Amino acid sequence: MPNTNAYILGTGRSYPEGVITNADLEKMVETSDEWITTRTGIKQRHKAAGGEYTSLFAVRAARQAIEKARIDASDIDLIICATVTPDQILPATGCLIQAELGAHRAAAFDLVAACSGFLYGLTLANQMIRSDQSRYALVIGAEILTQYVDYTDRGTCVIFGDGAGAAVLGQTTGERGILSSRIRSDGRFAEQLFSPGGGTRLPATAETLSDGMHFFKMRGNELFKVAVRSMTEVSTEVLSEAGYKPEDIKLFVPHQANQRITDAVADRLGVEESKVYSNIAMHGNTSSASIPIALDECVEAGTIKEGDLVLMASFGGGATWGAVLTRW
Ligand code: ACO
Repeated sequence: MPNTNAYILGTGRSYPEGVITNADLEKMVETSDEWITTRTGIKQRHKAAGGEYTSLFAVRAARQAIEKARIDASDIDLIICATVTPDQILPATGCLIQAELGAHRAAAFDLVAACSGFLYGLTLANQMIRSDQSRYALVIGAEILTQYVDYTDRGTCVIFGDGAGAAVLGQTTGERGILSSRIRSDGRFAEQLFSPGGGTRLPATAETLSDGMHFFKMRGNELFKVAVRSMTEVSTEVLSEAGYKPEDIKLFVPHQANQRITDAVADRLGVEESKVYSNIAMHGNTSSASIPIALDECVEAGTIKEGDLVLMASFGGGATWGAVLTRW
């Protein structure tokens, strides 16, 4: 019996129409377009309006992915929604998405791994498909980060944006699909990016809200170094496990955290600039949504074609990181 493998059948993306430009931020905090552009590569980020919520964009992205995969929502037996900004604490945003899609046969849940959530989801879905427990899996990365951004903190408010991306995975016995994947975490870095209030440790009160304890706090400079090291290491591991070298890959699609992180990882891996995908200028850092949004853009533009070797790598709060190598 040939080995069963999981491969991406279809992708989709969606984001709010609202946009915050660097010029808008110049009016809100002491910053400049020049600082933001040179330190991050970001020019604008999408921002949800009042009344817009995470699953709204997740469902739109998922519908596109399902249509492109040429399956019916009722064929899906696994839904993983990677998010740190769920619609509500209970139930899982994955279940709300399931109901909207009419994917009633699926097991649906949320996965909290910050910016690595989509690659964690791909890794789990791959195992479920390989072990024959799932036939079609829907993996979504969806975030409304701007609701947790303190627009008086210039260290975080310039970075984050909103959006959703989705991928439908199916079974194959051919040469394509996920060839190798690794996920990792280290909770000792927990306080480098965290939201202290609103959970059971520091329940929401009028005081925690007025103190801004529900906002993201980030030690960006420390994270930067760990991100570069971890993404490089884990990418090297998946390439070597699958028997490939960096020069073999057609495209590197990293989590869009900061252009300088992307450049540093690509440089250390030895991947030439023309093979590195970047859309951070237009979207900012959309956490778990950034890789699936990028994949969908690449497929649409013809930058990724069937048979291409694609490397994805991510790093996020937790700290969490991971890499997935796939033959499209
Ligand atoms: N405008 C102007 N000046 C600024 C701004 C700003 N927006 N933000 C910070 N500064 C200042 C700082 O106050 C500091 O000033 P000082 O020297 O007088 O103290 C100076 O710029 C340098 O600050 P650093 O924090 O060292 O700047 P750095 O070059 O590291 O850039 C940034 C900051 C962009 C946040 C970067 O560290 C970064 O991108 N880090 C990684 C973010 C990340 O990957 N997060 C994890 C993934 S996201 C997730 O999981 C949801």
